[in-house]
Parts: sequence; C-alpha cells; structure tokens
Amino acid sequence: MDGDKMTKSARNKTIDFDLAHAPAGVLAQIKTAADDLTTMEKVKDQSINGDSFAILPQLPDRVADLALVDPPYNLNKQYDGLHFKRLTDNDYQAYTQRWIDAIKPKLKPNASLYVFADWQTSIALAPVLGKNFIIKNRITWQREKGRGAKTNWKNGMEDIWFLTMNSKDYTFNVDQVKQRRQVVAPYRENGQAKDWQETRAGRFRDTMPSNFWDDISIPYWSMPENTGHPTQKPEKLLAKTILACSNPGDLVLDPFAGAGSSLVTAKKLGRHFIGIEQSKLYVAWGIYRLMRANDDRSIQGYTDGVFWGRNTGALQRANRK
Ligand SMILES: C[S@@+](CC[C@H](N)C(=O)[O-])C[C@H]1O[C@@H](n2cnc3c(N)ncnc32)[C@H](O)[C@@H]1O
Repeated sequence: MDGDKMTKSARNKTIDFDLAHAPAGVLAQIKTAADDLTTMEKVKDQSINGDSFAILPQLPDRVADLALVDPPYNLNKQYDGLHFKRLTDNDYQAYTQRWIDAIKPKLKPNASLYVFADWQTSIALAPVLGKNFIIKNRITWQREKGRGAKTNWKNGMEDIWFLTMNSKDYTFNVDQVKQRRQVVAPYRENGQAKDWQETRAGRFRDTMPSNFWDDISIPYWSMPENTGHPTQKPEKLLAKTILACSNPGDLVLDPFAGAGSSLVTAKKLGRHFIGIEQSKLYVAWGIYRLMRANDDRSIQGYTDGVFWGRNTGALQRANRK
C-alpha cells in the first residue's frame, strides 16, 4: 500500500488498503460463520464475512426493520477476485428467489426493503420481487457516470425497488427526506414568501421527495467515503432509504454489504445494522469506515436535515455560517 500511496494524489481519499496493512483493530472485529450468530446481542452492529446463503439462516428471525439489498447485478463482474457470472434470466430469477427465501424470515412483518438493479437486470428481477413483496415504488437514480455506447443510449440510471412486507403497515417518514432546491421564480403572496425561505445562501424551497433521484453522485476519489469497491453505493442515497423507512434504534440488514456503505450510513443515522459480505477485504474497508464514523457522522449532501442538490457544498456552508 505504501508504494501505491506515494503515487496517489494527496487529495485522493480512497480507502484501498490490503489486508496485510489493515489499520489497527479492524481485522479483530470481523465476524465469521465460526462465531455464534444466533442472538441479537451477538450480531447487532456486526459485519460478518461469509456467504449470505450460509450466514442468513444462522441469524435470529424477525429482527430487521429495513433490508437494503444490493446483489450482484446480472452482469459478469469481479468482486475482489470472486466472479459473478452472467446468468440466463431464468437462472437469475432462481438466484433472486434463493436470497429472498433466506432473508424473508429475518424481516419484521412491517419491514421495508430496497433492492438495487440496472435496467436490464430489472426485467428479470421485478416479477420475482412482485411475487414475494408489495412493490411500493420504482425509483430512478440518475447517475451522471456511465460508459458511452456507439450503438445505443448510454446507461445513465439505476433502478431502486421499494418493497414492503405489508401493504399498509410500514414506515415512511416523508418529512425526513425532503429535497432543498433553489427557487428560480420566488412567488410572493401579499408580500410574503410562498413556500420558500430566504436564507444566507439564497432562496430555497424544501420539496417533497419524488421517485426520480437526480441529486446523488457516485462516490469518487476525493470523497472520504470512497473505497476501491467497484460498485459502491453513495451514503447520501442510502441515507434517503434509511431515514424514510426506519426510525432511530431500528435494525438495518444488508446481505451484500460490499464496502459497508449501508452499515456506515445506518450508524451515522443512529440505526443498528447487520452486514454480510463474502470478501474479507471489503468487510475490512467497511469496518474501517465504521470506526471513522465514531468521530465523523457527516453524510455528504445531507445537512440541516435536508438533501441538497449535486455540487452545492459552497451553498451548504454559506447557509450554516
Ligand atoms: C453490488 S455489490 C454491493 C456494494 C455495496 N452496496 C457497497 O456500497 O459497497 C454486491 C456485493 O455482494 C457481494 N456478494 C456477492 N455474493 C455474495 C454472497 N453470496 N454472500 C455475501 N456477499 C456476496 C460481493 O462481493 C459484492 O461486494
């Protein structure tokens, strides 16, 4: 890592240590199938290294208020040397049903889930989700990054499926996920601002959140949350799901936890978590992030209890002065 570090720009904050250079205290915190995982006391706020299909059955039942499920998309992909090989649609559906069967007993009857996919994977995924859960919404995350294509439209979006166990009994804290937007044409009624506020940083309106999310960037090298994981989700994105569909003290379960983004975000927002990830390296990166969250609970793009648009850091700082 040291040699690598020397070639890295000083502003590059990417977490990419190897296991031999893990910061003190990280490796000792990793749980595995060899540990007792059968009670909440043992598994609460833990990151478990192992195969979710083997680990989930060991966990206590009906404990999770929210599951954040970011499985391998149906693409050829390498995760720390472990290959996910593209499957036929039928086989991907069978794979999806397998993880659903493993996770469902772990959810409370009023739990919610978010499941992530690209548009192609979604075609196979959606019918299986619909058979097992109530589909409440399909969120489009507009990503600004994507590989250009010469014979097709470049992919600039991801699907996020919002699902519940029960059609009526579920948590949705709409007031906690409002989006702060700059007001272009500030409307006044009898000289008074209508639904907007004058602040030090300008005129803003806190708007109701929709199912089109265009305010979230993919983590990149100058962001402290960035790791070497190939498909890491932004904390800001996960914060929306956690704030909307859980309450402080609730439990968030992530069976494909990667570099721990959902676990870190849950911790920053005062929720408990259980994460499972097959790569020990990714688990280690996640635990390091969890340790750093002891001192830094900030989530980039989420300040003053609202979500700000992309590239508004200066406005957010001005607003707080
Ligand atoms: C799409 S990534 C999730 C990324 C994660 N949301 C983040 O922000 O870092 C999927 C992850 O699932 C892991 N994975 C795949 N199959 C698994 C299994 N059977 N059990 C546990 N983890 C698995 C992969 O190693 C990969 O890190």
